Amino acid sequence: MNVVLLGAPGAGKGTQASLIEEKFDLVHISTGDIFRANIKGGTPIGKLAKSYIDAGKLVPDEVTCEIVKDRLAKGDIAGGYMLDGFPRNIFQAEELDKFAHIDLCINIDVDISLLMDRICGRRVCACGESYHVSTLNGATECKKCGKPLYQREDDNPETVGKRLDTYFKQTAPLVEYYEKQGKLFTVESGKLSPKEVFAVIAEELERRVK
Ligand code: AP5
Ligand code: MG
Repeated sequence: MNVVLLGAPGAGKGTQASLIEEKFDLVHISTGDIFRANIKGGTPIGKLAKSYIDAGKLVPDEVTCEIVKDRLAKGDIAGGYMLDGFPRNIFQAEELDKFAHIDLCINIDVDISLLMDRICGRRVCACGESYHVSTLNGATECKKCGKPLYQREDDNPETVGKRLDTYFKQTAPLVEYYEKQGKLFTVESGKLSPKEVFAVIAEELERRVK
C-alpha cells in the first residue's frame, strides 16, 4: 500500500510514520528529512533548500518532485511506502499522480493552537526519532539509539509562524484533492496521545490490507 501522510507542521506525521513503519513495514520517505540530510552534507540541493526552509517556504517544486521521483524509482519501495511531507501543494499532488499510484491519504488533523508548543518543544535525533520535552524527563539522548537530541533550526516561533501560514495557503487544499479522489482518511489527533492516534490509523490500515 502506498500512503500519503498529510498534516500541518507539528501534526505528528513523523511520529506516526515511525510507528506505522514498525508495524506495517512501509518505507518512510520524508522530503524534510531528505533536505536536512542534504543540508548536513553540504550538497548543492542542501544549499538551495536551506534558504527556503529557514524562511518557512516550500523548496521549489521542480527540485522536490525530482527528488521524490528518483526515490520512488528504487526497488526497496516495492512492498509499499509512506510519503511524509509530500505532496505539499496541488502541483506536487498532480505530478505525483503521473509517476506513482497512491492508495490512501492519512490526514492528521490537529487544532492550530496546539502546534506551536508541539514544534517548539520538539527534540529530534539524527536517527529520525522525535520527542517532546514534556515527555523526556530531562533526558538529552535518544531512547532508541542513544545519540544526543537536538532542536531543528526551523523550530523557532518566527519560522513556525511562517510554516503554518505556508501550510494553510498551499497544503491544506490537498484535503479536498484527496477527498475528491475517495482516498482521504482523517484522524483527529488533538486530545489523543501518539499511541492513541496510531491505534486509529492501524485499524484503518488493517481494514484496507484485508
Ligand atoms: P518537514 O520536515 O516536512 O516539516 P513539517 O511539515 O513542518 O512537519 P514537522 O516535521 O515539523 O511535523 P510532524 O508533523 O512531522 O510532527 P512530529 O511527528 O515531529 O519540512 C520542513 C521544511 O522542508 C518545510 O518547511 C519546507 O521548507 C521543506 N519541505 C519539505 N517537504 C517539502 C515539499 N514537499 N515541498 C517543498 N518544500 C518541502 O511531531 C511534532 C511534535 O509533537 C513532537 O514533539 C512530537 O513528540 C509531538 N507529538 C506528535 N504527536 C503528538 C500527539 N498525538 N500528542 C502530543 N504530542 C504529539
Ligand atoms: Mg516531520
